[in-house]
Amino acid sequence: LATAATALALAVTANTAAAACDDGEIVIKFSHVTNTDKHPKGIAATLLEQRVNDEMNGKACMEVFPNSTLYNDDAVLEALLQGDVQMAAPSLSKFEQFTKTFRLFDLPFMFKNINAVDEFQTSETGQAMKESMTRRGLLGLAFWHNGMKQMSANKALVSPSDANGLKFRVQNSDVLKAQMAAIGGSPQPMAFSEVYGALQTGVVDGQENTWSNIYGRKFFEVQDGVTETNHGIIDYLVVTSTDFMDSLPDDVREQLTTIVTEVTAARNSESTAVNAAAKDAIIEAGGVVRELTAEQRQEWVTTMMPVWEQFKEDVGQENIDAAQAINA
Ligand code: LMR
Repeated sequence: LATAATALALAVTANTAAAACDDGEIVIKFSHVTNTDKHPKGIAATLLEQRVNDEMNGKACMEVFPNSTLYNDDAVLEALLQGDVQMAAPSLSKFEQFTKTFRLFDLPFMFKNINAVDEFQTSETGQAMKESMTRRGLLGLAFWHNGMKQMSANKALVSPSDANGLKFRVQNSDVLKAQMAAIGGSPQPMAFSEVYGALQTGVVDGQENTWSNIYGRKFFEVQDGVTETNHGIIDYLVVTSTDFMDSLPDDVREQLTTIVTEVTAARNSESTAVNAAAKDAIIEAGGVVRELTAEQRQEWVTTMMPVWEQFKEDVGQENIDAAQAINA
């Protein structure tokens, strides 16, 4: 019976996934790791899927696989290069094996808010970053915003010294490892899909993420509370392979690129509001949110900022200066 039920479930899934695709259409599989509701990336990917399937019907079709159902972020870039999926939107922290310039976005307190990130990305330097990995077969189509990161742990975090000796899950990024070491924590790289279980079982004590990720994966349920540090950002690169892009007929490539650009503009302007709603939802669900005074937050700044020094050469002093000029 179990086998029959599984087979049925698989058939239904296959049907749903295939529903958007007719014979002869170019299939675009988009794999990502977050939830779809109250999440900037989830909402944007769903909108992109709808628009491609409505407007490109007969030419191309898109199937979005959220929640790490197809690949986690470590595997997805390899899958893109192999042609197993055609689109993904990993956070900028996940491109460690491909470029060091993205380290700028992981440096703590580099950008004061997502508008500053947007302004940097829109600059000539920012736009060039999208195409900085073509040599390795990856082509960035757009930056998608999530939001500012917050810190959580299984004890109250008010001063950075409260983090001393705690294990923190990090994305697999050298900057983020150095940042957690700077506050006396022990960084534990781990896939996003494993974080809830690791927090629940005490494999790690804490983590950093945006409100939408903390809400979407319910991390707040297995943490003492979330401290509003706004110490860094999570942003995404919508990425495809150069092979896939080159294989497309000109009109398909142009239409797809236009839709991506329009969805990006429509959803990026909403990302801050989506995160604010996720924060409210955490509080409504009984999660504890701790705000810091200006003096308390300054302690986090002072403790984390020395990390910049270690990565100055990778990211370029001129890029740091450009980012800081935007903040001013
Ligand atoms: C994480 O791994 O914490 C995030 O990059 C997940 C995501 O895609 O927002």
